[in-house]
Amino acid sequence: MRQRVLVASNRGPVSYQVGADGTLVGRRGGGGLVAGMTSGLAAVAAQADVTWICAALSDGDRVAARSLDAPVGDPEDPGEVRVRMLDIPPETFDRAYNNVANSILWFTHHMLFDTPNQPQFGFEFRRDWDSYLAYNQAFADALAHEAAADPAGRIRVLVQDYHLSLVPRLLREKLGAAADVGIAHFSHTPWAPLDYYRMLPRQVGQALLDGILAADHVGFHAQCWADAFLDCCAQFLGAEVSPAGRVIHAGHVTEVAVHPLGVDVPELRARAQEDDVRAHVSALSQAADSRRLIVRVDRTELSKNIVRGLAAYRELLATRPQWHGRVVHLAFAYPSRSAVPQYRAYIDQMAGIAGQISEEFRTPDWNPLVLEVKDDYARSLAACTLADVLLVNPIRDGMNLVAQEGPVLSERGCALVLSREAGAAATLGDDALLVNPYDVSETAEALHQALSMPDSERRRRSDALAATAAACPPARWLGDQLASLDR
Ligand code: G6P
Repeated sequence: MRQRVLVASNRGPVSYQVGADGTLVGRRGGGGLVAGMTSGLAAVAAQADVTWICAALSDGDRVAARSLDAPVGDPEDPGEVRVRMLDIPPETFDRAYNNVANSILWFTHHMLFDTPNQPQFGFEFRRDWDSYLAYNQAFADALAHEAAADPAGRIRVLVQDYHLSLVPRLLREKLGAAADVGIAHFSHTPWAPLDYYRMLPRQVGQALLDGILAADHVGFHAQCWADAFLDCCAQFLGAEVSPAGRVIHAGHVTEVAVHPLGVDVPELRARAQEDDVRAHVSALSQAADSRRLIVRVDRTELSKNIVRGLAAYRELLATRPQWHGRVVHLAFAYPSRSAVPQYRAYIDQMAGIAGQISEEFRTPDWNPLVLEVKDDYARSLAACTLADVLLVNPIRDGMNLVAQEGPVLSERGCALVLSREAGAAATLGDDALLVNPYDVSETAEALHQALSMPDSERRRRSDALAATAAACPPARWLGDQLASLDR
């Protein structure tokens, strides 16, 4: 009998827009979670029936969720993943996603609060929290419905990220103790240190931990995030934590483990050979005109630390004039979460420092900085293939795929300037130039070193980074989690 795997995440593998003629046009969903899960599921879907439950995000998604009223995708095709979109009432969704998940939980785990002013947990937050609960309940109900549709055999459920922290608990309550279901929860983000986590209202902090701990297996990309989570379980919740990373809470044992997510190297390299990418490679290398390239590719995201990255580039140019005319910084910062006011303000800050760099250093025949905010995946891949230096300097990051994809794509070897606070630093640290993301001068110095190192060293480091990224392909990342649920 074929096995069943259920995936739950806020953002799904496909997103719909209503075309001019009223038809729905599907596009692949974005972000690291979706990319890793989609790639990982390709192998799983050949042997198991996979259903992916996600929220309807766009107007087109809502139309799709209502009008199709059936899973998207062909359930008869074993390679297919069925997608079920949840049409959650817009106000509930907005409060759960924007106000709680993005404005509180993301900020907590990435330590982004401007603490003299934020957070403030008043009555509006309590109202938003009720919506977060309702939104999690909608996912738990949908998962339970799917599980009930096929009562024979064990079902494995993979719940993703901070949006759905309450789902393991709510699903267990819904299914009852007798159900043969294995639940895993995976956090693609960091986990906040105890002192920061303690800012959350007690009941909220406890509910999040209790919700996740109803899973059998809990995963993180890096040991430091797993350790922070275990610390919160012990100190905030009062759960029993064993040195081996097992948590006993409410009579249930949860295994906490680390599953770093790397890159599907053959798939990525094949994509980079396609015509659209090659056209961008030609255009970008022509524009660079043999100058060195420092590349970054991010969502416009506070945690990605783009403004300090630009400040470091400005400092490089201000303090090491030997690079004038010899280097170009391609900074791609694609729009993200524009419903959150801090993200809109951040775009202005980025533009401000970019303008300053141009004003101070631009000459008639040298443009030192290209800041692009229009999303173009093919152009991003092209920039990575050409980069001499890749700058990845997040304040905190669960893993960071760009730090791994860059070296995999690099054609002549690229040096990686990497924040020590990215989960990827745990695996890539030996071959990257690690920086404190708050230290702009140190980052400028690392950029200088990266530009100055002999080509042979850049090549050696790049090859070693690519080999590390290749060691944890998405199929393995997912396979290990599923295997843990079967133990
Ligand atoms: C990235 C993060 C994930 C997060 C996702 C959500 O992929 O690594 O942890 O779930 O972004 O982004 P969104 O654009 O859907 O808010």
